[in-house]
Amino acid sequence: MIKKTSIYSHPLVHHLMDPEAQKGIPGVLYLENRENDDDKKVVAEITARCFAPTLITTTSWEGFHFVGHEIRITEAVDCYGAVVWPSALVLCYFLETNVKQYNMVDKNVIEIGAGTGLVSIVASLLGAHVTATDLPELLGNLQYNISRNTKMKCKHLPQVKELSWGVALDKNFPRSSNNFDYILAADVVYAHPFLEELLITFDHLCKETTIIFWVMKFRLEKENKFVDRFKELFDLEEISSFPSLNIKLYKAMKKNPRSAGYPQSRAWKAKAISSRLLL
Ligand SMILES: C[S@@+](CC[C@H](N)C(=O)[O-])C[C@H]1O[C@@H](n2cnc3c(N)ncnc32)[C@H](O)[C@@H]1O
Repeated sequence: MIKKTSIYSHPLVHHLMDPEAQKGIPGVLYLENRENDDDKKVVAEITARCFAPTLITTTSWEGFHFVGHEIRITEAVDCYGAVVWPSALVLCYFLETNVKQYNMVDKNVIEIGAGTGLVSIVASLLGAHVTATDLPELLGNLQYNISRNTKMKCKHLPQVKELSWGVALDKNFPRSSNNFDYILAADVVYAHPFLEELLITFDHLCKETTIIFWVMKFRLEKENKFVDRFKELFDLEEISSFPSLNIKLYKAMKKNPRSAGYPQSRAWKAKAISSRLLL
């Protein structure tokens, strides 16, 4: 038996919106901007898509309603990629509610840092050809969630593939065969040491016509610096902002190579990687 969670009761969202909980996290910015009605209304709509099992089961899972489907996601507590983060909910909601403008049917989509796979599942249910990627240790759970929630429900069966940012990109995702209409990324920027590799990965996967939808949770100053760095290579447009969650949704496209200090050479990549601590 399942029950729908009430507004704000998704455990992560609840935690992120609770000022007391925020105070306990070093470096987390809590914005005193919770009076923003639009923000609250949309966040309420987003979190209302979550439900939890009422019975305790041997595996822990959470439920979500998107694209007219009940999606069950198996989670674990031992790593970042094994729970659904609020940014993923924001991106799923955006994709579902903006199909007229950004139609996913038959589009080539790649998700980086897919974690539990919720965003990839929603993009697949919306009709896209999806490749969900993450670190090797995440792929078992990712594949399980994706198979369970897309089999016999999607026009195109999604693929799961390893993609460690900046690693063997030319071999595993040759530029000549990359043809992605959309790159999706939810909560991939936080205190990890691979920010420059992440930037290289965005650049590698992106063609001139590719649209990136990137949802970013702001926690530390380092993340602001990443946005500045990102803007050197991509035209970035803020599509929506959720101050109560410290989350922003961006749309980005590659800058015209002539208007940017564009990173095509191996020398640039080497320099970028060695300067990653500057971010
Ligand atoms: C905070 S989680 C977000 C997961 C999912 N997108 C969501 O919003 O629920 C960050 C994700 O990035 C992945 N990740 C972290 N470092 C990575 C790297 N170097 N290469 C590829 N993926 C990485 C993690 O495994 C994890 O799935």
